[in-house]
Order: sequence, then structure tokens, then C-alpha cells
Amino acid sequence: KNIALLAGGYTGESVVSLNSAKQIETQLDYNLYNVYKIIISDEEWYYLLDNNQKVNVDKNDFSISVNESKIKFDAVFIIIHGSPGEDGKFQGYFDLLGIPYTTCDATTSALTMNKGYTKAVVSGINSLNVAQSIQLFGENETQEQEVKSQLKLPLFIKPNSGGSSIGMSKVNKWEELRSALAKAFAEDSQVLVEEFIKGREFTVGIYKTKGEVVVLPITEIKSSKEFFDFEAKYTTGMTEEITPAVLPQETTDKVGEIVKAVFAKLNCRGMVRVDFILQDFTEDFYFIEINTVPGQSENSIIPQQVRAAGMKMKDFYSLLIEEALV
Ligand code: DAL
Ligand code: MG
Repeated sequence: KNIALLAGGYTGESVVSLNSAKQIETQLDYNLYNVYKIIISDEEWYYLLDNNQKVNVDKNDFSISVNESKIKFDAVFIIIHGSPGEDGKFQGYFDLLGIPYTTCDATTSALTMNKGYTKAVVSGINSLNVAQSIQLFGENETQEQEVKSQLKLPLFIKPNSGGSSIGMSKVNKWEELRSALAKAFAEDSQVLVEEFIKGREFTVGIYKTKGEVVVLPITEIKSSKEFFDFEAKYTTGMTEEITPAVLPQETTDKVGEIVKAVFAKLNCRGMVRVDFILQDFTEDFYFIEINTVPGQSENSIIPQQVRAAGMKMKDFYSLLIEEALV
């Protein structure tokens, strides 16, 4: 089978995507698949030959021509974080061409890329809370006042479709609000302003294979910085990540139930990762976000969870590709 490994993208996370792809490339089963890494950049879509020559993708049918023979793909392993591989755009394109892919469908991808809309959908799930928040559409004069009158400090300010904490700030004092909003609006036309929930931070992978939904071991994230920002996410040793997280069995089981409910409610497919907070004292669960193309780089969390589950990355990635092919 010919598999395209789709990497790069249009956002600040393209670097992360290239790292994810580099890791995945070393962990695919080449007895089963011929793999072609396709890079998506603002300028072009291309495959790099061994001699470093670029072969441009024919966008009419997503094929490439190598040594005068046309190569079409049986499935696409999408590893672009953010736009245009996690937000439904490529998913819609591949749907039109009839090429299967490893991620959630176009609707789910587009919805889950929007943190505010996703909260509205998952807030209906039992035992899962969402922090108070306001979704801002474009920057204007009155919104600082709106935020101050409706929300309590501290706050998280997030580009609504962002990833890897790019453009995100924690606001502890009202004086910091204006610059935090400006920073987020520099990344996105929509911004989510969310009340901070004090507690322990966790993240858990979940995937579907052969009709079964499987929850991976949970990871607790203990960041030495004020929050799990870009630097903390991708610098070895800056964050303590404990997999499997130390939690009572009862709590672990409850997390499993909740993330399965999230997966079902959002009609997910492939592998996703759900981030949440276990609030201090109340022990209530608060949803942070869902990532439908979770990172697979050296420092990423899903690979740690897969290994903790006793699985080889190669077998895990084969399951994802086979799931796309059915
Ligand atoms: N958005 C990053 C890649 C993640 O969720 O892992
Ligand atoms: Mg994320």
C-alpha cells in the first residue's frame, strides 16, 4: 500500500509537525507500506527525492510522479498540527478525492479546532465541567470591560484555534489583560478568555481500532513554568510528565469513561488526545481541549502513553493506518 505522510502546515506548529513526522518515519512498518512524506508549506506541496529534488504534488488527484510513473495513495497519515491538517481543510479535500485518512472527519476536525465551540458541545457530558469563558470575535474597544465584568482572575487568554500554547498567556492582574489579548489576536481572529482552574493537569490519548475505543494510560503534567507553554512542551527536562499518572483506580476509571464520552460526543476517529484539569479540593474534572492530531515528536506525550501501554509504536501506527483503510 502507498501511504502519504502529510507534514508541515501553515501555522507556527509546522516545526512541531516536521518533528512528529520525523519520528513517525522511523516507526512505520515498511514491510506493509511504501511511505512518501509530503510536505505542505505556504508556497508548495512536495515530495523530496533521495537526491533532494522536489517533486510537486498534482493537486487534481493528490498524486506524485516519480521516474515518470504516477504514484497515487491508498491512505494519508495526516500529521499536520493546526491548519490545514487538523482543522478539516485537508479532510474535506481528501473526502472529495475519495482518499482515506487517519484523522477525524472534516466536521469534527473543524469543530474541535475551535476551542470555544468544542466547549459548548462537551459541556453536556456528565461529570465533565468547563471553565467560565468568553469567546471574542475580533479585537475591539469594549471587550476588556466585558471580560472584567464577566470573569474572575486569573485568566488564560488563548488564540481560539491555536496549538502548542502559541500566543497564549496567563493573566494574573488586570493590567496584563490588554497585552495578552493583543498577543492572542496576533495569532487568530478569535480569542478565548477562560477562567483559570487550579488543580492537577492531565492528558490522555484515546483511539479507535476494529470497532473498539481504547484509552491509553493517563499522563500527569507538572510544568516548572507558570503553565505548559511552548518551551515547556518541547524542551527536554522542563516538565515532569508522569505516565501512567498516579491516581486512585476509581479516578482512572472515571477518566476513561469521560474521555470515551468526549470521543463519542464529538464523533472522533483515529487517535486524539484530551487535556483536562482535576480541580483541587472539589476533585471535579474540567475539560481544557481536545487535539485531533496530537504531537508525535520525541518529547510528545502519546508515544510515552503507547509505550506505557506495552505497545510498539510501529504496531500502533499500523493500527491507525489499517483503521483508515477499512
Ligand atoms: N498541538 C500539539 C501538537 C499537541 O497537541 O500535541
Ligand atoms: Mg493542544
